[in-house]
Amino acid sequence: MNAARFAATRMVAPAGAATAVWMGQQELAFAKEAPAVDLKKVRESVMDLIEKDEEARGDGTSLKGTFIRLAWHCCGTYKAADNSGGSNGAMMRFNPEAGYGNNAGLDKARAVLEPIKAKYPDMSYADLYTYAGVIAVEESGGPTIAFRTGRDDYDEAKASQKADPNDRLPNAFMGSFAACTGHVRAIFGRMGFTDREIVALLGAHAMGRCHTDRSGFWGPWTNAETTFSNEYYRLLIEERWSPKVTHNGKPWTGPDQFEDSTGKLMMLQSDMILLSDPEFKKYVAMYAKDEDLFFKDFAKAFAKLLELGVPFASVAQPWYKFW
Ligand code: HEM
Repeated sequence: MNAARFAATRMVAPAGAATAVWMGQQELAFAKEAPAVDLKKVRESVMDLIEKDEEARGDGTSLKGTFIRLAWHCCGTYKAADNSGGSNGAMMRFNPEAGYGNNAGLDKARAVLEPIKAKYPDMSYADLYTYAGVIAVEESGGPTIAFRTGRDDYDEAKASQKADPNDRLPNAFMGSFAACTGHVRAIFGRMGFTDREIVALLGAHAMGRCHTDRSGFWGPWTNAETTFSNEYYRLLIEERWSPKVTHNGKPWTGPDQFEDSTGKLMMLQSDMILLSDPEFKKYVAMYAKDEDLFFKDFAKAFAKLLELGVPFASVAQPWYKFW
């Protein structure tokens, strides 16, 4: 059957109801659909939360970066080889994922989203966590990200059985640059990303910052941590980055990181490899020159990340299964 005709004849049921799928006058099947969620309302509530929190902080920092990190860490466990991991199930709410060292601090992001989940109980945690990242990108001047709901939530038993006991997220420091380059390529390669997509995704570090009480690292990557832009790439190329040795006039005792000439901005070793590896650097130079291209590539790569391993087809039965 032709897809356009299928779309035209498909009837959408009210929230929570079974959906009847029709072809002409003949009823073909019933499939349980995810309840309809008013994403516009969810966005308003999330933005209200972000804005009130920004006011209360009053220091120019924001939940926006943290929500992008939350969305990415939900998805960044994906393994293409066996289709395991990914955002489906919202497994980060439970161990082992909750306890991954690389998820440190994201309990705070999940906690502040609880009232939103309570307000929109029909939205799964998995959809809410990923959508919060989409909202943060879009409402910070970033590109529009293709997003659809339909992720399931697992209970604790299923999440602990399905999730990998080993932290699958990337480390920011691996000793040598060569080891770090191999590590980052291996982690993103496991998910199915190319070099170009890796560099595009890392541009999200234009937003937010590192926290000494979460990852141990300190500071923002850019001068405008609540604005989505290509500043990360421009700074990588234009600034002089050196190992951080002091912090507020005292010796730096945290993990190895880099700082700019003012000491106010930072880069991780996993950011610096984008300069040292010629293939990665090619894309850094492209995005530093062309923000539109970065936005286009980021939007595609981030939308892909958000859908890794999500069986949307199990939510609404695909038409081709009917005959
Ligand atoms: C090699 C891959 C990556 C590594 C090693 C890495 C590492 C880190 C670390 C150490 C932090 C600091 C966390 C904290 O202390 O609060 C961080 C924050 C952040 N990361 Fe990444 N990251 C990677 C890739 C990504 C990707 C792919 C995205 C999104 C597409 C992303 C978005 C962010 C954002 C927005 C923050 C700021 C969080 C905040 O402000 O609370 N990162 N990252």
